[in-house]
Amino acid sequence: MTQTLTLRRPDDWHLHLRDGEMLKAVLPETARHFGRGIIMPNLIPPVVTSEDARAYHSRIMAALPEGMTFDPLMVLYLTEGTDPEDVARAHASGLVKAVKLYPAGATTNSNSGVRDFDKVAPVFEKMADIGLPLCVHGEVTDADIDIFDREAVFIDRVLDPIRRAHPNLRVVMEHITTKNGVDYARSGGDTLGATITTHHLIINRNHILVGGIKPHYYCLPVAKREEHRVALVEAATSGEATFFLGTDSAPHTDPNKESACGCAGCFTATNTMSCLAEVFETARALDKLEAFASLNGPAFYGLPVNDSTLTLTKGDPVAYPTHIDSAEGPVTVFDPGFPLHWSVTA
Ligand code: NCD
Ligand code: ZN
Repeated sequence: MTQTLTLRRPDDWHLHLRDGEMLKAVLPETARHFGRGIIMPNLIPPVVTSEDARAYHSRIMAALPEGMTFDPLMVLYLTEGTDPEDVARAHASGLVKAVKLYPAGATTNSNSGVRDFDKVAPVFEKMADIGLPLCVHGEVTDADIDIFDREAVFIDRVLDPIRRAHPNLRVVMEHITTKNGVDYARSGGDTLGATITTHHLIINRNHILVGGIKPHYYCLPVAKREEHRVALVEAATSGEATFFLGTDSAPHTDPNKESACGCAGCFTATNTMSCLAEVFETARALDKLEAFASLNGPAFYGLPVNDSTLTLTKGDPVAYPTHIDSAEGPVTVFDPGFPLHWSVTA
């Protein structure tokens, strides 16, 4: 008997589309299965003002192939110079759906991020007033904090104080990678949400390092111990409204990944829904996949769910391409390390 699963069309609440030739290559990979995406603003230069966001939105729509639909939800990159009024106007016009906090130096293209969190308090106040969510890259950057501890320390030293100072601010803890992140997100009530990536549900730090270094599994925040991956799977498959999908699909060309100083990011846009079906099936929670991928995110952002659907069908393993080509070079598609039995029809 064929097993099928029909979901509301999913959305991706944390997505890197890049720009130029890379944008053209990766956008169809997401638009094939997803209705909307929260578009990360860490371009060079970053998407800081409402004008930047409007121009980037136009470039994304121009790169969308004929016959495909996709709704890019724009995000402003928070800097110490961000004008709260510009943020409010961008929100009022409907263009911008979130503001992104990168601690300076935390990840790819984050040098324009925030060093002194007090300097952006007026922006947080305005956002709390107008109900605009703050998406947070939750890692401290202090050289003396071990990279595997940076998320847990960020929660205590930065995130919790910000939330206490701005109790009405809606916050998304992005790409959580630890049990600490899961526990804190759960304790936060309805002003706090958390995204979980596809790859953090599948790999732990052994996958990166055992038997030779695997650059295509290197991303930030870096995957942690197995007990943390297990906590993430438990959270994602719980159906709880706090947790929703943000793939953090982050394309870099193979030469930039397979290098003496390789870039952080896993490219998961192409096969995410098949990977997730496998993870949820293994956890005996296929009935919770729709909440995680299609319902909880819109509810947090106060948006309607998508009208259309996506159908997953179980059968022989599906062959996905190992790479997609871009004019900048090839991009390796995330290898989950197990066969994918669920094919996707839009
Ligand atoms: C992202 C990128 O490449 O832009 N990389 C990553 O490892 N996730 C940046 C980010 O989201 O941290
Ligand atoms: Zn990201």
